[in-house]
Amino acid sequence: MLTAIRYEPGVLYLLDQRVLPAETRWLTCTDASAVADAIRAMVVRGAPALSIAAAYGLALAARSGADLDVAAALLTDARPTAVNLRWAVARVRSAPDIEAAAIALHADDVRINRALGAHGAPLLDGGVLTVCNTGALATGGHGTALGMVRSARAFGRDVHVWACETRPWLQGARLTTYECAHDGIPCTLIADGAAASVLASGRVQAVVVGCDRVAWNGDFANKLGTLNLAVLARHYGVPFYVAMPRSSLDLACADGGCIPIEERDPREVAALDAPIYRSGKVSAWNPAFDVTPAGLVTAWVSERGVEQAPFDLR
Ligand code: MRU
Repeated sequence: MLTAIRYEPGVLYLLDQRVLPAETRWLTCTDASAVADAIRAMVVRGAPALSIAAAYGLALAARSGADLDVAAALLTDARPTAVNLRWAVARVRSAPDIEAAAIALHADDVRINRALGAHGAPLLDGGVLTVCNTGALATGGHGTALGMVRSARAFGRDVHVWACETRPWLQGARLTTYECAHDGIPCTLIADGAAASVLASGRVQAVVVGCDRVAWNGDFANKLGTLNLAVLARHYGVPFYVAMPRSSLDLACADGGCIPIEERDPREVAALDAPIYRSGKVSAWNPAFDVTPAGLVTAWVSERGVEQAPFDLR
């Protein structure tokens, strides 16, 4: 299976996801600020992978005797939406041995994903529509939503992935397709706008997505375009599942209204150096995530099992 994060005492290696699949390039980080920069720049991405990278970032700070408060704040603030980031930094910060705690967090993530996948596998058979990348590249290994697919296939189910390309960063087109091809998972890439058509065609039996932060009423933030899929799934009567490691739960958050949504540089959305944009007569808006109301979710799949409505996750 692909690996996006490797750690040796004092050095964190991150697979640069900005250049995949064209190039396999590893970035070397030896301090927390380099890790925070890599998180901000999307070298590493996906909520669980962010948490692992941040945990190792704090381990690097601890090793070098850097100010842990400064390092923790830098890492926590690198991206605002995935609550896993702050959860991981808090967890390793409170441990007597920060480096050992980061290594344990990494190993736990793989175990959690495998458990989540095993719980979710029986829900899948046939076409599975998804967005972004939620596989090994987005986690410590196996994946969450894509992990469910992986587990379902291991249990002999004939699952076929329909991957939305996921503009503007193309996590679906570049990363999910790459992972599926690498691991022999049947996969068809579609333009984001083709989601309705593929659902209308009857080729999709379930929509499965990951999450970056879940409020305790079940509203959740995930990659932009998730809300579109949830609305479409309801319209076409297709079940909509959320793969949710418990580290994505934010019990301080009552509903989706309090989830901070990252807004990225508008230049990511379009070729903003084109004259029409340079004229200043047209602008671009680039939220990286959207919030899906709990009422559109069929079930939540975590390492503890499958949770159905009424979605009170406390
Ligand atoms: O901007 P990204 O690529 O970090 O967004 C990732 C997602 O939205 C994923 O669906 C989510 O983090 C879950 S990854 C298992």
